[in-house]
Amino acid sequence: MTKKPLNDCDNKILVQNALSAMKNAYCPYSDYKVGAAVLTESGKIYSACNVENSCYGASSCAERNAVFKAVSEGEKRIIAAAIVSEAGKEPAYPCGICRQVLSEFCSPDAQIIVFPGEGEAEIFLLKELLPYSFNFKRQGKEK
Ligand code: THU
Repeated sequence: MTKKPLNDCDNKILVQNALSAMKNAYCPYSDYKVGAAVLTESGKIYSACNVENSCYGASSCAERNAVFKAVSEGEKRIIAAAIVSEAGKEPAYPCGICRQVLSEFCSPDAQIIVFPGEGEAEIFLLKELLPYSFNFKRQGKEK
């Protein structure tokens, strides 16, 4: 992991897209807004927010929604992701399910940027967040 001020981030634009998506967060239960943006191999950016539900288990995280948007548009290779939360709240380190979802469409060396709304961004490689991930692709089973 490396830490950098937002202005020094290679993927500042990705963080800005995530911050913009965070404005649409639907989180009446947790009051915790999250935004995410993913950069695909074709150079496009897909962003999303967290969407909660009265039946809590039906809620979905911002980064998972962003990945699903990209894949729904035919993009299967994600090269970087940014996840942001509001200043003064916890940084939005991706949950276990989202790490697994990211691993399906990212290389282990993809950059995952966590920006807590102010100050420095933390830049991880996916393999640092999810070592030894389960993935059929690495066994040559990709269709
Ligand atoms: N959440 C995300 O969207 N991404 C994260 O990385 C962490 C958690 C959401 C899920 C839920 O809507 C709220 O934050 C509290 O867990």
